[in-house]
Amino acid sequence: MDIPQSLIDTLCTSERVAVLTGAGISAESGIPTFREAQTGLWAQYNPEELATPGAFRRNPRLVWEWYQWRRGLVAKAQPNPGHLALAVMEAQVADFTLITQNVDGLHQRAGSRNVLELHGNLTRDKCFERGCVLEAGEQLAGSPPRCPHCGGYLRPDVVWFGESLPEEALHCALQASQNTQVFLSVGTSAIVHPAASLPEYALGVGAVVVEINPAETPLTQRATYVLQGPAGEVLPQLVRAVWPD
Ligand code: OAD
Repeated sequence: MDIPQSLIDTLCTSERVAVLTGAGISAESGIPTFREAQTGLWAQYNPEELATPGAFRRNPRLVWEWYQWRRGLVAKAQPNPGHLALAVMEAQVADFTLITQNVDGLHQRAGSRNVLELHGNLTRDKCFERGCVLEAGEQLAGSPPRCPHCGGYLRPDVVWFGESLPEEALHCALQASQNTQVFLSVGTSAIVHPAASLPEYALGVGAVVVEINPAETPLTQRATYVLQGPAGEVLPQLVRAVWPD
């Protein structure tokens, strides 16, 4: 793919860069996205119908087991060249903010330091009734297990549809999007708000907005640049073009 020279020049001279990532950046690590066809055991379920408090109330075992399956995939997965390229970018840009909707922790495993997790993290549990957060890696029996503090069901510490986002992370993400010179939207269908509003805020303040995605999204027509392709190929190429050594 040809990266436009004007984009290389802009990134080269930008001090403030914000990046929003979605499930697409982890697709090449073998973690299925939300809105593309699911395969295997879980193909019959719609993830949007599993990731809700109502679904958990109706069938806690089903929702818990779906997350256990996703946890298994994440544990076996490795960060891919797209995650690694963003860690390199962080080291090159003075003021760099990585905002993710992903709950898989692969950005941190790739070496990214400042990651704003808008939708929580799959490696932690909290209890459904009171929200007591457990230490990551604490293994308890049950499907789902019970909270050792209050006896309620445990659930993954992720944000479900209909729930609020972590306030501090959302606040920092909004600020970064409204202060940035360049905003990259990577591997997200750009339809779930409030994350989907972030590139709009960036456009509103005159930032250069770049979309990296093999498919079209509602952002495609509005983005300043569209680099159509898989993040694991496009991001390393972009980083090499802007910071060759
Ligand atoms: P989606 O599954 O909605 O979208 C994934 C996007 O990644 C699509 O636009 C794909 O075209 C794109 N994609 C696929 N492979 C790619 C690749 N190799 N490189 C780059 N892009 C690729 O996932 P999200 O946009 O992350 O929320 O979904 C947003 C939120 O909705 C999720 O965080 C989750 C979900 O339901 C909650 O659970 C609250």
